Amino acid sequence: MDKFLVRGGNILEGEIEVSGSKNAALVAMPASLLFKGKIDFLNLPEIEDIKRMRELLSGIEAKGEIDLDIAKRFRASILTVGPALARFGKAVFPHPGGCVIGARPIDVFLEGWENMGAEIEAAGQTAHGTEVYNIKAPHGLRGCDHTLRVPSVTGTAGLIMTAVLARGTTVLRNAAMEPEIAYLEEFLNRNGAKITGAGTHTVIVEGREGELLIPKEPFIDPPDRIEAGSFAILGALAAKKLKIKNCNTHEISSLLSVLQNAGAYLETGTNYIVVGKSEHLNAVDVKTQVYPGFATDLQAPFMVLLTQAEGQGLIHETIFEGRLNHIEDLNRMGAKIALCDPHRAIVSGPSKLRGKVLESPDLRAGLAYVMAALVAEGESQIGNIYQIDRGYERIDTRLRSLGADIERI
Ligand code: EPU
Repeated sequence: MDKFLVRGGNILEGEIEVSGSKNAALVAMPASLLFKGKIDFLNLPEIEDIKRMRELLSGIEAKGEIDLDIAKRFRASILTVGPALARFGKAVFPHPGGCVIGARPIDVFLEGWENMGAEIEAAGQTAHGTEVYNIKAPHGLRGCDHTLRVPSVTGTAGLIMTAVLARGTTVLRNAAMEPEIAYLEEFLNRNGAKITGAGTHTVIVEGREGELLIPKEPFIDPPDRIEAGSFAILGALAAKKLKIKNCNTHEISSLLSVLQNAGAYLETGTNYIVVGKSEHLNAVDVKTQVYPGFATDLQAPFMVLLTQAEGQGLIHETIFEGRLNHIEDLNRMGAKIALCDPHRAIVSGPSKLRGKVLESPDLRAGLAYVMAALVAEGESQIGNIYQIDRGYERIDTRLRSLGADIERI
């Protein structure tokens, strides 16, 4: 198993280009099932989650079935169910796995599909203990007026894709407003779908009654806003001057204003950010929220930054209940973080971090460990880096080009 060996203390400097967005791509790729013929996806990052999605979709295209073993391994597999149901009238799928960051139920999807006329039954467990569902729409899917219980990002995307082939109009209320939804709408509309409202709380989809889309224009993956944000935090933590190129700056405006309040050196253009360590970082409070609020995916890296800021900063994680798993390890490295309850932690800084042997608990916390290791004294070993490779393309090589001492062993 590969590990990262990181020797801390180097000051980073240079330019880094943001890759295509993991989540925008994961949300849009399953829409390929709604097309008659092949549709291209361009600028996709070379990361594990995208490889899994490709593998899963080519299986569905070839056999009309969702491969349970692949699907159960990553959360985004649930995105293939709606399009598969819309196309084939039925699907068998597992309860999806993925990062261990909370319960991650799928009720939003199930309720939406039921409201569109699908019948769902829990079909028990496989030999490996995977929970499996049978879903079918014997009378076809019909448009409906549906309110999502929570504004789930993948839930919204999944229901939009299902509704594209349904009979009649679907109104989705309390929809997620994340940019990934707007990118999906734009892509589908350029290929003949009729969707409005993406990026607001109400999305309206005019169904095509089973008529597949005809491929016209490819999906061009936009820059990854979470990668851009992670690099911005890294710059504020460890760089003399870091230029982050190819980013949609407005998509991380919440993070940038918090970084500014914390005293980081920051210069922004519409598609680039220059960020650097300042003489003095002060603690700030952060509450994760749905877009355009502070993204939960940036919470773990930001916590590392707070360990180097002066004063006490409160981190309030409102989106996932299991996403403060990184505290114990950061404390082992020398941080002073007190967990108040499953959603809140207080970071007191600044503290000197020391290199340790660590295991990446999930994708975003994994990158946070790399960042902590880069500012720590001595050497760290980070295991389970499959989790980091799931979401960040060749992160070791790219960080090395900025002067980081990181090796894959
Ligand atoms: N939720 C439910 N029921 C559902 C679906 C979600 O209760 O049926 C709850 C979740 O438990 C959570 C909240 O709703 O408390 C929000 O979750 P959401 O469904 O929006 O998350 P997601 O769609 O599964 C996407 C990203 C995540 C990102 C979240 C929040 C993809 C493939 N994943 O997940 O990305 O954290 O939105 O912005 O787009 C990551 O990239 O590391 C990652 C975890």
